[in-house]
Amino acid sequence: MTPRSVVVTGAGCGIGLATTLELAHAGFDVIGTVRSEEKAEALREAVDRTGASVRTVLLDVTDATSSVRAFTEIATMTDGGPWAVVNNAGIAQPGAIEDVDDEQVRQQLETNLVAPARIARLVLPTMRARRAGRIVNISSISGRVSMPLLGWYCASKQGLEAMTDALRMEAAPFGVKVVLVEPGSYGTDIWQRGASRLPQRRNSAYRHQYEAAEEMIKRELPSPRPVARTVLKALTAPRPLPRYLVGTDARSSAVLDAALPTAATDWAKQVATGLRRPPRAAHALSRLRSRGGR
Ligand SMILES: NC(=O)c1ccc[n+]([C@@H]2O[C@H](COP(=O)([O-])OP(=O)(O)OC[C@H]3O[C@@H](n4cnc5c(N)ncnc54)[C@H](OP(=O)(O)O)[C@@H]3O)[C@@H](O)[C@H]2O)c1
Repeated sequence: MTPRSVVVTGAGCGIGLATTLELAHAGFDVIGTVRSEEKAEALREAVDRTGASVRTVLLDVTDATSSVRAFTEIATMTDGGPWAVVNNAGIAQPGAIEDVDDEQVRQQLETNLVAPARIARLVLPTMRARRAGRIVNISSISGRVSMPLLGWYCASKQGLEAMTDALRMEAAPFGVKVVLVEPGSYGTDIWQRGASRLPQRRNSAYRHQYEAAEEMIKRELPSPRPVARTVLKALTAPRPLPRYLVGTDARSSAVLDAALPTAATDWAKQVATGLRRPPRAAHALSRLRSRGGR
């Protein structure tokens, strides 16, 4: 039987690369999209070294012309169009709402929200005609829970979730299954890349919080393989769930945010991001700890 073809956008690193490897080793015909010929070659070599293979196509998801060109090429590579698409390409624009300018907002929404919808429009006609296909959108726990200093990233993912929920209901009667994957925090370059997008840092009223956030992103995070495994599950389950939370941090945040009053979760998030001082007892304890006490 011919292997099913799956397009993974932003396949060159992070979750996209982990997903490409997972799917290629599971026997899918993976087409990974990247933004340059050098990245395409590096991706093919990286997958090749593990004993699997991937085909590559160039795509900038924020560029409508590039998207049409890429999916026209993919259609010729896949007998009319892929069986599935994993919309993974994404960026994280940090910064207080007051600090992020219109252009940065547009870039955030274009990449994380407008692009997956455009790609859905490009692949759906063939999927509907076949009465088969899957679209997996990589969201985030930020698609459910808003955090200060990450407002536009959260808005992009919450928009993605709203769009995906509508799409899932619209596409289901045509045999197309649409799934959201909502990871917690994993060790990729997204936050370091985001740090380079921090706005107006010298003059910002939030610069101390940005400095603290920069320290926080230096901590070691787990490998993104669980996210890749979840995508595999979403593609192989006969009846995939509408959404998959990935990681204990994502699961606990989702439960707490839904169960606690907004005033309580606001307070906890402000303390966590340095916008509010922790209560005295906790503060004293953390000072003792930093001096080596127990
Ligand atoms: N890491 C986490 O903790 C985490 C948690 C929840 C959700 N996510 C989501 O997971 C997805 C992947 O993120 P990641 O953590 O793997 O980050 P990453 O390592 O920075 O990878 C992002 C990928 O997206 C690509 N990309 C960005 N803008 C693009 C554009 N305009 N056109 C085409 N490709 C573009 C990048 O390509 P280039 O290399 O060319 O820039 C890269 O391959 C994102 O949607 C992110 O929001 C990540």
